[in-house]
Amino acid sequence: MVETRDLVKTLADKHGRSREALIPILQGIIQEERFLTQETMTEVAEELNISAAQVYGTATFYSFLDTEPRGFYVIRVCRTITCSMKGKNAILQTIEELLKIKVGETTQNRKFTLLETNCLGWCHKGPAMLINDEAYTELDPDKVREIISEHMKK
Ligand code: FES
Repeated sequence: MVETRDLVKTLADKHGRSREALIPILQGIIQEERFLTQETMTEVAEELNISAAQVYGTATFYSFLDTEPRGFYVIRVCRTITCSMKGKNAILQTIEELLKIKVGETTQNRKFTLLETNCLGWCHKGPAMLINDEAYTELDPDKVREIISEHMKK
């Protein structure tokens, strides 16, 4: 595994060291390490010559930039109005029962984290969720059970 410091440097070389580079760099770190530690955020701040508070503020503002350890699969169920009206609660409940965790929690084997998120842009095909970068739409409890079971086997 690449050292965090080297990863930060490589990403800064790729995206530049301006303020605009901050989000692409943080996303690059998430892709490799799945979440941002305090230490990583400090390294990014040093590399871009900005304050650690600015990095932390950006990371916590965007819910996609995780600052806590997450499971291998991060499930994000849309909680915005259209998906809510189309049955998001039943989707969440099904996942909670299957994985035996609540929203915000990670399974003991660190395989799944369950989160809610704002609109994913799939409202016309709601309810929708993401598992890592992949979108799943027009969900119902049976379909969700199938999707999660597939991921449990992987
Ligand atoms: Fe759920 Fe837009 S409201 S995807």
